[in-house]
Amino acid sequence: MTQTITVIRGDGIGPEIMDATLHVLDAMQLGLKYEYADAGLVALERHGELLPAATMDSIRHNRIALKSPLTTPVGEGFSSINVELRKRFDLYANVRPAKSFPNTKSRFPSGVDLITVRENTEGAYIGEGQSLSEDGETAMLTQKITRRGSERIVRYAFELARRTGRKKVTVVHKANILKSTSGLFLKTARAVAAEYPDIQCNEMIVDNCCMQLVMKPEQFDIIVTTNLFGDIISDLCAGLVGGLGLAPGANIGTDAAIFEAVHGSAPDIAGKGVANPCALLLGAAQMLDHLGLPEKATKLRVAIIATLEAKDSLTPDLGGEGNTMGFAKAIASRV
Ligand code: NAI
Ligand code: MG
Repeated sequence: MTQTITVIRGDGIGPEIMDATLHVLDAMQLGLKYEYADAGLVALERHGELLPAATMDSIRHNRIALKSPLTTPVGEGFSSINVELRKRFDLYANVRPAKSFPNTKSRFPSGVDLITVRENTEGAYIGEGQSLSEDGETAMLTQKITRRGSERIVRYAFELARRTGRKKVTVVHKANILKSTSGLFLKTARAVAAEYPDIQCNEMIVDNCCMQLVMKPEQFDIIVTTNLFGDIISDLCAGLVGGLGLAPGANIGTDAAIFEAVHGSAPDIAGKGVANPCALLLGAAQMLDHLGLPEKATKLRVAIIATLEAKDSLTPDLGGEGNTMGFAKAIASRV
């Protein structure tokens, strides 16, 4: 059966890293068909909308999208196109692996292999109920956490642990202070954890977790947490292993899933052909896992690691002098 995926080439460095990524996927002969759709600045210019209906239809229909970064123009429409996509498709699980790779400029060239599972649809991050008083002196924001939202994300984390042979889930919270919201999340997490006696579970307050991540990242396996904490922690984790050029993310819902790089459209290097394609490639590897092709996903990751080990055509962010497509070709030669 041929699988069709929606491909969003995106803004800034988006088209460059997408072309590089598709070059590698093509070399793997996976039989994937691509349906191109526009979103972001490109879509605004071409169709007068940041998220055209045709793009939404394509994702709804194919259920799988590979997406490059999108620029959200300041003062246009939504506060963030990415948040909007997550909301519209109810992509409740944001799954962000951070793993040590060779020849990066990382403080942890080995020993880090963890996944942040971030709740993606509620909490402080989505900006509900934002207001500023008329005198400009008082700002407010509603923070809503539900038992359903907490339950499904924690269950996702434990199921992920079982499926991937991981041993431990750390529930990260601030229930000592945010007694209602973080309290409900923690209480729900404890109930779910009790159903998984085969997986070790511990709890950690978010500020301590940040320190522990920097001091002893090897103690973490899977972290599950609420939206805003997950946003911050996953960038911290990307920093541990060598930066945004190596950090992928999956946004997973019941009816659709969108795979991407954690980084943005990098306008400072757009059009120069020097962007590192690895984050999006690793996002594509997550997509292959999701499509039930784990041996292909592993093959892709092994090829990326071998290319890093050989220092073959690495991009400048990794200390090399290569370019985006050259790096992709070096990876493609190893798949
Ligand atoms: P950014 O992630 O685009 O860039 C931060 C820094 O990292 C820059 O110096 C950039 O050159 C570098 N960088 C990022 N990706 C790289 C890569 N693959 N290879 C080498 N270097 C890389 O963050 P910034 O500048 O804050 O945001 C730019 C735009 O991207 C904004 O419009 C923002 O809204 C959007 N954005 C979109 C995201 C998405 O679509 N998922 C996520 C984050 C930001
Ligand atoms: Mg972020």
